[in-house]
Amino acid sequence: MSPDSFAFIAALVKGRSGLVLTPDKGYMLETRLGPILKREGLANLDALAARLRDPRAALIAEAVTEALTTNESSFFRDGKPFEHLRRLLPALARARPSGATLRIWSAACSTGQEAYSIAMLLRELALEGRRVEIIGTDIAESVLTRARDGYFTQFEVQRGLPARLLVQHFRQEDGRWRVAPELRGMVRFERGNLLGDLRGVGRFDVIFCRNVLIYFDAPTKARVLNALAAQLQPDGVLYLGGAETVLGLTERLVPVPGERGAYGLLREAALAV
Ligand SMILES: C[S@@+](CC[C@H](N)C(=O)[O-])C[C@H]1O[C@@H](n2cnc3c(N)ncnc32)[C@H](O)[C@@H]1O
Repeated sequence: MSPDSFAFIAALVKGRSGLVLTPDKGYMLETRLGPILKREGLANLDALAARLRDPRAALIAEAVTEALTTNESSFFRDGKPFEHLRRLLPALARARPSGATLRIWSAACSTGQEAYSIAMLLRELALEGRRVEIIGTDIAESVLTRARDGYFTQFEVQRGLPARLLVQHFRQEDGRWRVAPELRGMVRFERGNLLGDLRGVGRFDVIFCRNVLIYFDAPTKARVLNALAAQLQPDGVLYLGGAETVLGLTERLVPVPGERGAYGLLREAALAV
């Protein structure tokens, strides 16, 4: 692939998703975009880049972007945020009027393990009768379809999911494990781009946005963090991934003392939980 073609595809993907493709990712493009070349009858990545220059190729541009996302996820990933959430939710429920709905957002949810982990945790909490809404969003339709279907392989359920919860919330179906309908009914999965206008999704008490900012450059991280801060309730909490931070990127969010990866809005006393 010519440097020009690489630069064109990289700029297109960054513009659509924020994902940064460094020049050493040439091999990744070859392997991930192979199926698209085949489907479109294109000889190589230079031909793909030429096709993408046509503004009418929006659907191919979408498929290219989606193919270059990394969708790695696991149940109760990193543990700690879920321990904090277990303490936070009862405190948030007490702080809300009766009849209020607590809203939780798994932004960049991939195949749904994070949203389903939150749902499993909720099943164990009595939140003073408060309703809870869980929404998972991602830029990639293929992972959302998997998340909605709720099928997971033996390998996937062995990563982070306690056997007790597997037995309780999953059924064996067609050689895989499927999330039980009650749990699937607790989560809504929708298409959503973190670079888009986030105001439409409303305000949230809790936002998980983990292991996606690592793929963005600093200005994009700052833009997304500020947009997420604007959607967070004044006493809400944003969880980021283990390798992600707000430091040097936004002044609207500050670490929750003693809780790695948890952030609250500046000037609001974080709930002591
Ligand atoms: C590595 S997964 C993280 C999944 C989950 N949050 C976790 O930590 O296990 C990153 C996800 O971010 C999604 N993604 C990448 N760019 C995005 C964007 N601009 N808007 C929304 N989702 C995006 C990818 O499709 C992918 O599913």
